[in-house]
Amino acid sequence: MICDNLSINEQGHLCFAGQDTVELAKQYGTPLYLMDADRIRHNCRTYMSAMRKAYGDNFEVIYAGKAASFKQMYRIMKEEGMCVDSVSIGEIFTALSAGFPAEHIHFHGNNKTEQDLAFALDQSVGTIVVDNTDELTALNEMAGDKGIKQNILLRLTPGIDTHTYEAVSTGKVDSKFGFAIETGQAEEVTKLALSMEGIHLEGFHCHVGSQVFDSDSFVMSATIMLGFMKDIQTKYDYTAETIDLGGGYGVRYLESDPTMDIEANILRVADHIKTTCKELSLPLPKIMMEPGRSIVADAGMTLYTVGTVKEIPGYKNYVAIDGGMTDNPRYALYESAYTLVVANKAGEAADYIADVVGRCCESGDIIQPKVALPKTVVKGDVIAVCTTGAYNYSMSSHYNRFLKPAVVMLEQGKSFVAVRRETLDDLIRFDN
Ligand code: LLP
Repeated sequence: MICDNLSINEQGHLCFAGQDTVELAKQYGTPLYLMDADRIRHNCRTYMSAMRKAYGDNFEVIYAGKAASFKQMYRIMKEEGMCVDSVSIGEIFTALSAGFPAEHIHFHGNNKTEQDLAFALDQSVGTIVVDNTDELTALNEMAGDKGIKQNILLRLTPGIDTHTYEAVSTGKVDSKFGFAIETGQAEEVTKLALSMEGIHLEGFHCHVGSQVFDSDSFVMSATIMLGFMKDIQTKYDYTAETIDLGGGYGVRYLESDPTMDIEANILRVADHIKTTCKELSLPLPKIMMEPGRSIVADAGMTLYTVGTVKEIPGYKNYVAIDGGMTDNPRYALYESAYTLVVANKAGEAADYIADVVGRCCESGDIIQPKVALPKTVVKGDVIAVCTTGAYNYSMSSHYNRFLKPAVVMLEQGKSFVAVRRETLDDLIRFDN
């Protein structure tokens, strides 16, 4: 099993967080997102305790809400002492509606509008991660009008290629995000920020990529960020209080994927940071990390019902399910791999190869090609797609006007609806 919250019971049913997924499918209907709240907490605690071990109290773990954003997530994050990263005022609003404290929100984005910034200032969002000079200038003026000094981090691009797939590699010099260190633009904007009345520059942020399995990229980005911090200290007599290394730790989608030892990686990066600070005679800055995927991915599962099995002799087999790229666009977008299990036949041998496809009017609507399923797979079976906690619900769409599934939370042996299933009326509520 790819994660220890998966098991098989005596009836041969797949269990998630100790609960029978076939029963959950019956109770709540399919398609259905499940979220294992206990696993989310476990993942938060892994980060929090490793960071505490590494840095004492001088750290923050910031959950990247883009991975999965709905009110119950922020309730958990608050209870676990996490900060959150929001990429839109929609995510900020969701967090605030759940009672998440504004001062622990970091506002990201490469093109925040002035309305976005005004909303963030009105709500007293703790940190704004500034991505470009237009934003910095606007923010300074708006903060000035309010008579406040807004706390910011500057997003820098350290120029690292994490050998991950191009679409999620964001720390390279030619990125749409942030200011490149190499070109001198990072230094220029630092100088500008330091001269601004309405701005408190807390430090620097970077994010080098996603689904990364080794700490090398983080060690490299720390080296570059601390080198930059030193350079700025020497030239402008400004010592950054904070370095944010972003998110990116990888998760297991397949048995063959490696297991990421989060604590060991954090401690390795911390050792490197401490040594480098000593060498450069820098005080140890507050270290921040922004995990998204590794907090929620393995806490999620999606359940579907098989509608039909189609065999094209000599060519291929299709198993069509009652969802698709509208609730999981990640194969269509990135050819992402997933582990699939026929939940009501989890104990059976799987040697029938089929493409598991959705019901959108599009040939690319594939959840996963060439999946090994039991030969007996048939209409009515429940298919579980594992590790869908990150970037599934949050990337879902209304293509073809399919309704978004419910999100059901599993917590301490109980289940409850965290996001209710959409209705047809929900679909037309904005239509005139
Ligand atoms: N911080 C920043 C600034 C980010 O851009 C991201 C992800 C994270 C943190 C969280 O990274 P994580 O720990 O989740 O890897 N939709 C894509 C992933 C896009 C990630 C974008 N940024 C996918 O489905 O794989």
